[in-house]
Amino acid sequence: MFDYLIVGAGLAGCTLAERLANERGAQVLLVEKRSHIAGNAYDCYDDKGVLIHRYGAHLFHTNDRDVFLYLSRFTDWHHYLHRVLTWVDGQLLPFPINLDTLNQLYSLSLTADTMREFLNSRREQREAVNSEDVIVSQVGRELYEKFFDRYTRKQWGIPASDLEPEVCARIPVRFNRDGRYFADTYQGIPKQGYTRMVERMIDHPKIKLMLNTDFAEIKDVIPFRRLIFTGPIDEYFGYALGRLPYRSLRFEFEQVHQEYFQPACVVNYPNEFDFTRIIEIKHATGQRCPVTTIVREYPAGEGEPYYPVPARKNRERYEQYAQAAAQLSDVYFVGRLGQYRYLNMDQVVREALNLYERLGP
Ligand code: FDA
Repeated sequence: MFDYLIVGAGLAGCTLAERLANERGAQVLLVEKRSHIAGNAYDCYDDKGVLIHRYGAHLFHTNDRDVFLYLSRFTDWHHYLHRVLTWVDGQLLPFPINLDTLNQLYSLSLTADTMREFLNSRREQREAVNSEDVIVSQVGRELYEKFFDRYTRKQWGIPASDLEPEVCARIPVRFNRDGRYFADTYQGIPKQGYTRMVERMIDHPKIKLMLNTDFAEIKDVIPFRRLIFTGPIDEYFGYALGRLPYRSLRFEFEQVHQEYFQPACVVNYPNEFDFTRIIEIKHATGQRCPVTTIVREYPAGEGEPYYPVPARKNRERYEQYAQAAAQLSDVYFVGRLGQYRYLNMDQVVREALNLYERLGP
């Protein structure tokens, strides 16, 4: 009999497996339906020897010192400060919008003060009821249309006016020349990749890993005392209350026979192209090699569940599932699919560590 059955070998499942086996001496069965560990943070070498992020760029960033120190037990870090450029009006401009973005776009020499005046004269006074309101009330309609409108429509399949305000409220406007995408204290990439880091986390004689195994196949066959589920919460309940919708992505990889393809890890395309962005992960991994691999991201309605769709009716449906989950004993839901929330990696590890503390002996 296993003490724990953990479904999903992403960061949530592997953090819990590691803690329970190492600290509590629990016997853990970790099942994963994919052919690999590390969930969406999975990275691997392609046939040209370039380290790629199979499910989109994963940049680690956090202000949570304990999470950083916890993961640092399993990896050294390649220190990398993430930068994003946006292709607007035939130019590559820093994003989020900062002083350099506006000076370059309009050939101006604004300072922090005159940038405020510039935006004050353009912003529209309105209550931030949706994501369009959030941006238009910060930077005005023209910049909204250049940087956000098409990008958001492509990404979510709906206009920003139909998205909850929090989606775009996460993106700051900076009145300085800080071109970093994230402002967190700790930023980087595991030196030998996420997969290697996660391998080390679950390398323990009390953790048994089964890849290519769906929970549905083994739940009535293998005995266990407690269940930790990091897959989709609606799937666990057989979609009894309806499906929780996700936005998906199609990744189109291309090997390019030159050292670098573009000047930054991520270039956004908020315009007529069907893809939203091109990622060249070599900038982030720091890998030195004569060739490179880029990936174009095409948002899709169908496919792997990546982004919970942030709309009120979905949140309400999730709350109903969460209430059903609270009635169960010895079953715990955690991670971005279990909690139906877009969570960054550090937040997922934090949630998993918090659950570990709550589990008791
Ligand atoms: P995750 O999805 O990683 O793992 C869950 C696992 O459960 C999966 O491997 C799945 O196959 C498995 N599973 C599901 N159902 C199952 C079943 N029935 N049986 C068996 N196995 C099952 N974060 C960040 O901090 N910085 C970043 O730059 C990015 N970038 C980024 C890009 C893109 C495109 C996405 C979609 C996400 C990010 N993230 C991110 C978020 C990051 O991916 C996320 O925080 C973690 O990977 C979540 O870890 P989990 O373990 O919760 O889920």
